[in-house]
Amino acid sequence: MRLCATLSVLLYALSRAPVAEAACACSPVGIPVHVDVLVPKDPMDHGLTQLRLLGDVIQLLVHGLTYNSEYWSPPVEEFRSYSYAMFSCDHGLSSLAIDVLGVGLSSRPVSAADVQYPTAYGAISQVAHHLKAASVLPGVPAFKTIIAIGHSAGSALLNFGAIVEGGERSPFAGLVLTGSLSTPIPQRTLPPRMSARDVNPLRWGALDPGYIAVPNRTIFYPTDTSTFSPRMLLLDESFSNDVGSAGVFAQTSTTGLGTTYTGSVVKIVGSEDQLFCAGTGICDDVAALTVEEQKLWPGAKSFEVVVEEGSGHDMNLDFFAQGPFNTFVRFVEQFAGL
Ligand SMILES: *[C@@H]1O[C@H](CO)[C@@H](O)[C@H](O)[C@H]1NC(C)=O
Repeated sequence: MRLCATLSVLLYALSRAPVAEAACACSPVGIPVHVDVLVPKDPMDHGLTQLRLLGDVIQLLVHGLTYNSEYWSPPVEEFRSYSYAMFSCDHGLSSLAIDVLGVGLSSRPVSAADVQYPTAYGAISQVAHHLKAASVLPGVPAFKTIIAIGHSAGSALLNFGAIVEGGERSPFAGLVLTGSLSTPIPQRTLPPRMSARDVNPLRWGALDPGYIAVPNRTIFYPTDTSTFSPRMLLLDESFSNDVGSAGVFAQTSTTGLGTTYTGSVVKIVGSEDQLFCAGTGICDDVAALTVEEQKLWPGAKSFEVVVEEGSGHDMNLDFFAQGPFNTFVRFVEQFAGL
């Protein structure tokens, strides 16, 4: 059986006028994908992804669970400086922020059970291979190099891809995995989740109960409330969040398997990340953490772990965001050979 879907993407492209300065612009693009895995299909869906451009290199941005592509560019004037898509475009890097299968403007299968790592990654992989093979917008040629950047479950999704599609088959020259670790964590704290239809009946009342939401999002920020804007949390809890699938939530532990990936990898976590670092002690010794995390990436060309001081789980959304943004750009440039 086949799942036919369209993934929504936002392309942030760098356009260069002949004489004037380069300008960043964003275009929404829909990329049809066909995921050939054993799940029932929902033929009526349409989805969308977000995309952004520099020369031959593009960043593929993959949001986490209960977020969508807006994680990479909060849709509020006040928070423009929290847009990694804009930040990196200002550094000459294009990006494509996708809405993962079932999320945002992308196709949402009727059954949340159809949204699992194999289907969600299958769609991402197709988009990536498509970006290398063909133009997605008039005047924008195919890309030679793709660096994928994930956040949280988006990183776990890319990690899953590195298990099933590593080596020569991977479309990615490098992986920047933020807000995600494989090291076992004692006393694990998980986000409090509920069926999305119970959280917001107006918005999600018709959805399969397997689509989940996280109404209280404080866990995604540092415990010190002076380190982020209360309005960012308000935006996050009121508008900016999205649904995830219970299946993907349950599968995040698959990152404990070894990968066959041969490109470059960096894992970036915030020292105040309540899901991994804050209070667990595992991020205090970066050298020891690197040794532990690297075990699952035996074939990687290079492997590093970076702990961003002060940042929470949503390292793009607190007052320290510019630090991680600079780190992301540095690794993207390094991995792409720029
Ligand atoms: C959200 O969770 C935090 C931490 O568990 C708690 O302190 C806070 O009261 C909760 N907020 C709401 C509105 O329930």
